[in-house]
Amino acid sequence: MNRLDNKVVLITGVAGDIGAATARRFAEEGAQIATTDLKQPGSDVIESFRKDDAPFFFQQCDLAVAEQVAGLFAAVIEKFGRLDILVNIAGGDYGRNTEFEEIDADNIQRNIDANLKSTIFTCREAVKHMKPQASGSIVNMSSMTFRGSSANQFAYAASKGAVFSLTRTLAMTLGKHGIRVNAVAPGMIEVRTIVDTLPNGVWEQVSKAVGSTYPLGRVGQPEEVANCILFLASDEASFVTGEVLEISGGGRL
Ligand SMILES: NC(=O)c1ccc[n+]([C@@H]2O[C@H](COP(=O)([O-])OP(=O)(O)OC[C@H]3O[C@@H](n4cnc5c(N)ncnc54)[C@H](O)[C@@H]3O)[C@@H](O)[C@H]2O)c1
Repeated sequence: MNRLDNKVVLITGVAGDIGAATARRFAEEGAQIATTDLKQPGSDVIESFRKDDAPFFFQQCDLAVAEQVAGLFAAVIEKFGRLDILVNIAGGDYGRNTEFEEIDADNIQRNIDANLKSTIFTCREAVKHMKPQASGSIVNMSSMTFRGSSANQFAYAASKGAVFSLTRTLAMTLGKHGIRVNAVAPGMIEVRTIVDTLPNGVWEQVSKAVGSTYPLGRVGQPEEVANCILFLASDEASFVTGEVLEISGGGRL
């Protein structure tokens, strides 16, 4: 018996390392997995969470476009017949380290689209299916920046703060329908999109500098985020809703 046997899960952002690690972890626990991303994941990534004996689903989607999200959910329901868990991982920090005076409408819009609008659209479609079932679990992706304690991540931090508020509000609204809504807020996690965009050797310096500010003395790994998402999504967290689980090695900044 696995923790997610017979559960149908939609995971967004699977072309990224945290999304892929989460899909792998959910597959290990027996879930039937539907996946999506703006980008097509590499075949090595898909193979890492694809199970021969389970139905496989990936559909490309811009989650900031309502019509595409509606189409995605229609396809998931057609394939699996139901949706038990939604995991919103897609998102990102667009314009990191832009001087505040230089921020433009495009920078604001990209952060709001990728992090907030996408989460609202997917939650809205999920709720349409979860309410009639009178059950469901949603895990959203915030970030430790939601505390406003990280310099130079203005629109990103604001959008992740909004994900935190949205999560709480949805939890208050949907509890009576048997739907739980929680979020995770990671600190710095080692992912290719950060490591590969830095010049040679810089990641080692950055991860050491940031990691040393965390009580556990290091940055996190995608699998460590995936494990927390798995707990919140699963029935093991059946009396937990409206929570934001910080995954930062004890760091509070
Ligand atoms: N890596 C970290 O240190 C860290 C820390 C805190 C929070 N997060 C959050 O975790 C999530 C995953 O991040 P990651 O580090 O794996 O980054 P990543 O960039 O590798 O993955 C994010 C994925 O989201 C997808 N995406 C972005 N906008 C989209 C849209 N409109 N529609 C569909 N897909 C879209 C991207 O294509 C990408 O594959 C993000 O929401 C990020 O903000 C990351």
